[in-house]
Amino acid sequence: MFNIFNVLLQITPVPRNIPLPLPLPEWLLVFLLVFSFLLHIIFVNLMIGGTVLTLWCQIKGLKDKDYHNLAHEISRTITVNKSLAVVLGIAPLLSISTLYALYFYSATSLTGGMWIAIIPLVTVAFLLTYLNKYTWKVLDSNKPLSIAIIAAATLLFLFIPLIFLVNVNLMLFPEKWGLIKGFFSALLLPNVLPRYFHFLCASMAVTGLFIFWYFGRKSYPFEEYFERLTRYDIQKKAYSLTLAASVAQFIIGPLVMLTLPTKGFNWSLILIILAGAAIALPAMWWIWKSITGAPEDIAKHFWKVVAALSITVIFMGSGRHVYRATALAPHQKLVEIQSAEFERLSKEAREHPTEEKVELKLDTSLGNVAKGAAIFQQNCSSCHKKDEKLVGPPMTEMVSIYKNNPDGLKAWIKKPGKKREGYPQMPTLTQLTDDDRNELAKYILSIK
Ligand code: HEC
Repeated sequence: MFNIFNVLLQITPVPRNIPLPLPLPEWLLVFLLVFSFLLHIIFVNLMIGGTVLTLWCQIKGLKDKDYHNLAHEISRTITVNKSLAVVLGIAPLLSISTLYALYFYSATSLTGGMWIAIIPLVTVAFLLTYLNKYTWKVLDSNKPLSIAIIAAATLLFLFIPLIFLVNVNLMLFPEKWGLIKGFFSALLLPNVLPRYFHFLCASMAVTGLFIFWYFGRKSYPFEEYFERLTRYDIQKKAYSLTLAASVAQFIIGPLVMLTLPTKGFNWSLILIILAGAAIALPAMWWIWKSITGAPEDIAKHFWKVVAALSITVIFMGSGRHVYRATALAPHQKLVEIQSAEFERLSKEAREHPTEEKVELKLDTSLGNVAKGAAIFQQNCSSCHKKDEKLVGPPMTEMVSIYKNNPDGLKAWIKKPGKKREGYPQMPTLTQLTDDDRNELAKYILSIK
């Protein structure tokens, strides 16, 4: 019979779990994981989308003053969104590493170098966005340099998510762990690139909505910054970006599904994804009506659009969790069995420590003292030699003392005393039996 557990056992490393309770109820950790991750990823989306748009506007701004100003306005939001993304990233990171400690740890260590590289890469990318923001005036006379700075930040921001994606992807597939040789080989797992484009499109869609809101605020001194561009122009472009990116998701989304191994699929997952996609449809329709309708009505449906797409995001985020839970369930079961078996064995070992019985090597040529010689070899020879002092006195000395007193010799072995100056105390060898001491005495006293 085909049995997923047997197959898994043969190809998958099944480590033991740490027998520690979770710090919070599991459902609460799952909720925290899904919810805090979504909040985090929205600001990551804004940070990345904002950087890409800044770069694009700066290039257009070489010829068009208004775009130059638009680039500056967007660039000022990147660092704020970035800080929120970082702060909001702590909760999901902590929850995933408690809920999925074993999987998260394995995935990070398999891509170790690149995983650690996140820290310097993110640091450099953040510094570059600050540099771009704070050298804006200074570099007015050297726009190509300013563009180079934001282009470098963009490249880094486009690369870093790949490291995270490879990691969360690798977590799901313990059966691949044995085949992975570092980051780049994990990058080639079939699902990584579709997921990456799914993420980039989401970034552009979310950033479009953000720009729409940011520049549409009544309090925003629009006319101070722009000569020719109108609020409507920018809002229309922002909406178009969101719409185009959302339409693209309807192609990339199914690709993500198709390239995901089926082991994590079940009907509830498919329902969640379809419901999420369905809720995006009216949002896209409202955006379309706003773009093609009267300019003064462009913001009419905005909050409905935001609400609908937020629900889509919540559904997709939950689907993501359901896939992970389903995909890992059989492996988690194995780990549980393995851990329980280990716990059982170690409890047994603690309760009934087995004494190590080492085979005696008998030298039969020694006749009836062969057994005594073997016991001596095993228990005494590290301290006693035949006719030289080692730790204790030589055997010849023992013979001269106990020649006519085998019982005295046995009594000493059973309970060694303290006799000689300049010698340490001989330890009591509790593992010896009366029979062993008889054999020892017979052997020792046979020495000439
Ligand atoms: C860790 C080292 C050590 C081991 C192992 C050890 N001994 Fe000793 N033994 C000594 C020392 C040290 C003395 C001297 C102690 C003293 O005189 O206070 C000694 C003394 C003796 C003496 C002399 C007793 C006397 O009356 O003077 C005998 C006999 C002896 N050991 C037998 C044995 C036998 C048999 C074994 C193995 C079953 C054994 N020892 C294992 C360290 C050891």
